[in-house]
Amino acid sequence: MTEWNLSACLLAMMSAAFMLPPQNIAAADESDHGPDGAALARLDWMPKNQTGMLNVDANEGRLLRENVIKAKTRRALEIGTSNGYSSIWIALGCRRTGGHLTTLEIDEHKVELARDNFREAGVDALITQVQGDALQEIPKLRGPFEFVFIDAWKSDYVKYLDMVLPMVPPGGIIMAHNTRNLRSELLGFIERVQTDPQLRTVLVEPGPGGFSVSVKLPTK
Ligand SMILES: C[S@@+](CC[C@H](N)C(=O)[O-])C[C@H]1O[C@@H](n2cnc3c(N)ncnc32)[C@H](O)[C@@H]1O
Repeated sequence: MTEWNLSACLLAMMSAAFMLPPQNIAAADESDHGPDGAALARLDWMPKNQTGMLNVDANEGRLLRENVIKAKTRRALEIGTSNGYSSIWIALGCRRTGGHLTTLEIDEHKVELARDNFREAGVDALITQVQGDALQEIPKLRGPFEFVFIDAWKSDYVKYLDMVLPMVPPGGIIMAHNTRNLRSELLGFIERVQTDPQLRTVLVEPGPGGFSVSVKLPTK
């Protein structure tokens, strides 16, 4: 099989996996008594007690966790922590892969809320929080990052993509939120991820926000 055929085949399989309907995303081991019990309890508590945090929903969180695992993530990066709801889902994926998450947030109050949530969820050892402007902080980071989640202000998504793409290895996954409910603000970003020759991208809607899911292609 040629290199091109091999990557086309791999990507077709990955694209099919991203399209899994939400009921297939939920892992059978989501039990309150397993190792993730404290995290799942906190994920249940957060939307009821910390509102206005612009979080992904639970099905979207499951897809984040799933793709962290698919990318065999050793190092994950999240841009836009808020109170840490999506970070906890990503951390649960990292727990399976032996990975670690670095998450960036500009708002001091949200950084503190997330810190408490990570401790209560029992995932604080899996996460490094960076407080500051992601546009300033990302250039200070060293890759590789096998998994990147972009979920800050929509006008900055293309800039974030430009910054992180060189740090993502082939086979790495970049997900971005709100491609469904804020599509009109993300038209430029969506066109970019769908036409960049370094990426193969699908748009998925496991919840109200929607994601782009981009796999970085092997270099030819
Ligand atoms: C949509 S919320 C993130 C929600 C979170 N990912 C979740 O699903 O739980 C966007 C967050 O990005 C943060 N943000 C926006 N611009 C930023 C920047 N330049 N640097 C760091 N954080 C930023 C905001 O303060 C806000 O908390």
